[in-house]
Amino acid sequence: MKKIAILTRDCAGVNAAIRSIVRTASKYHIEILGVIKGYDGLVDGNFVSLNRRSVSGIINQGGTILKTARSKRFFIESEQKKAVQTIKNNNIDSLIVIGGDGSLRGAHVLATRYNIPVVCIPATIDNDINDVDLTIGADTAANVALDALDKIRDTATSLERIFIVEVMGRNCGYIALQVALAGGCEEVLVPEQDINIDAMCEEIKAGNANGKVSWIVIVAEGKAKGHDIANIITQKTGLETRVAVLGHIQRGGHPTAIDRTMAARLGNYAVDVIQQGKTDYCVALKDSQLVTIPLEIAVQPKEIDVHSYYTLIKLLT
Ligand code: F6P
Repeated sequence: MKKIAILTRDCAGVNAAIRSIVRTASKYHIEILGVIKGYDGLVDGNFVSLNRRSVSGIINQGGTILKTARSKRFFIESEQKKAVQTIKNNNIDSLIVIGGDGSLRGAHVLATRYNIPVVCIPATIDNDINDVDLTIGADTAANVALDALDKIRDTATSLERIFIVEVMGRNCGYIALQVALAGGCEEVLVPEQDINIDAMCEEIKAGNANGKVSWIVIVAEGKAKGHDIANIITQKTGLETRVAVLGHIQRGGHPTAIDRTMAARLGNYAVDVIQQGKTDYCVALKDSQLVTIPLEIAVQPKEIDVHSYYTLIKLLT
């Protein structure tokens, strides 16, 4: 193994993973290239050389020092072939892809259709990669959302209002459930669970009649729009609502200790796995152990134990 290229999406902890890969690889005298702007950069042959010094001081930075893009071009076969050609022209032996399910699907195409050796590291705030405990970035995102929620609670309590807080996560309710439980929220709406909005509004009305004056309802973006839920609650209960859509702040910020340590372990392990000649896998922590998971399994829908979250959230509010 002489040369590895790293391609990334952005979320907190990705830079810590890049650092871990580069410093592990340098121990084995493996050359490292960074792909600038994700799959578009692979098509265009947009690379930067990385060494131990170029990854100094990035462990605590959010985003990705390699920049990224939501590549539409990489869906086109002729563009995929160009990417394969740039990999060959640059004598790249293996690719490490750090990202979410879209990035992993792209890597699976390279490995299976074009025989390019690829290993992935799951990194997305959505925590929607199947069969893995946690993706890099998800813990930071949940903590950023929780911090915002704590601030919203101050005004919710002072003004006696119902707050609807919409969080990211695409089709996965992970961030919403974490935040609802950790933030002591009354209600949480996630894609994995049907909602009975009438029953929820009746509960709010009954609580209000009993003197309860403020609620926080977390809505996962994949379930509904926060504003739509707020309008329904106001119509059905007559109570005042306000909406906060947390948006992209959840994808930024300094990575938590959990994200940094996971990035360090997975980056290091990815280099080992590549050296073992494995391809078409992602590395991950499963039951706290380092494992390899075939990419075709990793991109299947992930199941979350929504029931356990709901039971506790309801019990504790
Ligand atoms: O997949 C990460 C994520 O932040 C999702 O939670 C969100 O739905 C989406 O990306 C937003 O995408 P974009 O940054 O392209 O608007």
